[in-house]
Amino acid sequence: MFEFNPYSPEIDADPFPAYHRLLEEFPCFWSEHAKMWVLSRFEDVARALDDWETYSSSHGNLMDEIPGRAGATLGSLDPPRHDRLRTLVQSVFTPKTVQGMIPPSVKVATECLDRCLEKGQFDFVDDFSSRITVSVLFDLMGLPPTDHRAVRQQVILAISTNAELRRKGPENIAGFQYLVQYIQDQVAQRRSRPAGTDLISGLVAAEIDGDKLSEQEIVMTSATLIMAGVESLSSFMTMFALNLHDFPFERRKIIANPALMAPAIEESLRFNTSAQRFRRYLMRDVELHGQRMKAGDFVCMCYGAANRDPRQFPNPDVYDVDRPPKRHLGFGGGKHLCLGTAVGRQVTAAVMAEFLKRIPDYQRTTPILKWNSSTTFRSPSGLPIAVA
Ligand code: HEM
Repeated sequence: MFEFNPYSPEIDADPFPAYHRLLEEFPCFWSEHAKMWVLSRFEDVARALDDWETYSSSHGNLMDEIPGRAGATLGSLDPPRHDRLRTLVQSVFTPKTVQGMIPPSVKVATECLDRCLEKGQFDFVDDFSSRITVSVLFDLMGLPPTDHRAVRQQVILAISTNAELRRKGPENIAGFQYLVQYIQDQVAQRRSRPAGTDLISGLVAAEIDGDKLSEQEIVMTSATLIMAGVESLSSFMTMFALNLHDFPFERRKIIANPALMAPAIEESLRFNTSAQRFRRYLMRDVELHGQRMKAGDFVCMCYGAANRDPRQFPNPDVYDVDRPPKRHLGFGGGKHLCLGTAVGRQVTAAVMAEFLKRIPDYQRTTPILKWNSSTTFRSPSGLPIAVA
């Protein structure tokens, strides 16, 4: 009998065979392991994303929600509170902010590449992607570089799931609490001295028509930005590097024609986005594909599967940087479309252009990767590489 178990290490490593069965045989599937419905077809997921009144985020959007997070962050609020918060955050996190992140990203990438080339063998995550994303994000948020390592470790714990307990374990919750306490201290420091130019100071000062962010909104928004900036961005860059390794013919096309970098990034977001599955809460009964989902049920929006739906993408399992542009769900959609789309695209493009310039040929030193244990995100914990 078919089951979809997002807690299994097999799904962490390779969810795609299960996605095919969901797409073809069980488009509206009750997962006993996850205790929620799973939607996999592109049209169903995209439609649900546009219907936030039925598919609510207010009970948390992570597959295994962190206690205290639902209803307090952008991703776990419905309009109108969501829209108000998003407008205030966007007043601080502007296109200029994103532009300002590119030169420091390239600078850190160059320094990392010097060290990687000297070593000859290195880990793409530890020595490259996470170093860049943590360093640039910390800089942007005005956080001291001495805290990089400790905070990143706690972020990874916070986004992970305890597969045995089938929910967040005490270590995961403690990781999130560490992050919240850390930011509370940073906010308090900013309140007690003249405003700086960093992003947390910007959130403290943000005001539209007299409306300001509450203490909890500043802390939870900063925590979200750190988690996304530190983990989602680094994980996506790693998945992109993995795709370019596994499909050398496509990689060579980008090296020969740098204009293909942008479509290659879109293709990786489609082909194996790091943000695989998020959840929603049903506000009313819905009938779909002969199944009756009940108000109060949780529903998994399986972006990773929708991005492999042959009804939307011909030959979905082929990695093709020349694929004609088409809407994918690598950044989600609707009201909760990722706030960091420009950062994700532009920083990855700038950094990976530098990487390919210096290391056009590279080999994975192990065919089997270790994957982080997470029901929401998919990323290898390391990507050992040898310079060819
Ligand atoms: C390439 C890397 C990234 C990927 C693949 C990604 C993916 C996603 C996805 C799929 C969602 C939707 C969640 C849902 O449907 O509930 C989301 C939301 C969000 N992302 Fe990202 N993200 C990335 C990078 C970033 C970065 C760098 C930031 C900020 C620094 C960021 C900030 C956010 C925020 C604040 C939300 C919530 C938006 C809302 O609910 O209005 N993301 N992201």
